[in-house]
Amino acid sequence: MGITALVNQKGGVGKTTVTLGLAAALSERGKAVLVVDLDPQSNATTGLGIFGAEHTVDIAMLDDSPGSIRSLIREAEWPRDSLEVLPSVVPSSPKMAAVEHQLVSDVVGAQDRLAVCLEGVAEDFDEVLIDCPPSLGLLTVNALFAADRAVVVTEPAAWSADGVQQIITNVHRIARRRGGSPELGGVVVNRIGRTRDNTYWNEALAERYPELVLTPSVRLRAAITEAAASSLPLQATHRSGAIEAMADFSDLADTLFGSGRVEDAEAPGVERLRESSHAGL
Ligand SMILES: Nc1ncnc2c1ncn2[C@@H]1O[C@H](COP(=O)(O)OP(=O)(O)OP(=O)(O)O)[C@@H](O)[C@H]1O
Ligand SMILES: [Mg+2]
Repeated sequence: MGITALVNQKGGVGKTTVTLGLAAALSERGKAVLVVDLDPQSNATTGLGIFGAEHTVDIAMLDDSPGSIRSLIREAEWPRDSLEVLPSVVPSSPKMAAVEHQLVSDVVGAQDRLAVCLEGVAEDFDEVLIDCPPSLGLLTVNALFAADRAVVVTEPAAWSADGVQQIITNVHRIARRRGGSPELGGVVVNRIGRTRDNTYWNEALAERYPELVLTPSVRLRAAITEAAASSLPLQATHRSGAIEAMADFSDLADTLFGSGRVEDAEAPGVERLRESSHAGL
């Protein structure tokens, strides 16, 4: 069991895509995955096939009592035969934007309400993935106070390394306050295309964070956009490119969570990353 927050204050880089790709890859292996959608845009919720949910994460965040997220958990509405098991999800709603405003005036629980809501719940799952909104506001801070590990998602675009540095700095600031958690799990470079611009910025990221950039990167594939738009896992789409995209997410799941074999419970690459992340970036 582990709680991983997928973060970047920059919008549209692929946080939700990587969250759902990893959730599908783990579910394909029969792992029990819980996706917590913290973003008022609710893209992970709709990507998992859930529309118009009444019981959404804002209820638990306002309730502020231990384990209150449990009653909001439901199964993804993906085709039952597409994966070995279906991921579970705590849906979001636009009401989360109002929650963020209310947190500002809470002098006691502004930062760790999500951690409180998740108390005793994460133990029921092999992995919990938190999809964060594109900001460094209190919702992302709550995710980082609840997570064991932060994974930064970025794209190979102009100045993305600067944005990555900004979130890494904040991960370390929170880790100092929490006695070392969350650990920095690495940087996923998403939407790798063949353009010269992509190659240039991808190399810039690899040069600046040689120990942190995770392999593999996720390639640009139309099948990914199409799966998201149809609220389906890649496993249920039959478009060319879906197989390559599934392979990227499966290999990335190996890097982050181990291949599922007992001796791989912790992938060696991740241990190395931990050491380098504490060496002080
Ligand atoms: N590897 C990829 N190949 C093709 N399309 C992609 C890829 N990754 C993401 N996309 C598309 O790019 C768009 C933005 O991705 P996504 O919603 O995952 O980003 P995000 O970081 O979660 O955005 P936000 O910050 O708004 O939450 C989506 O339409 C998604 O389908
Ligand atoms: Mg998103």
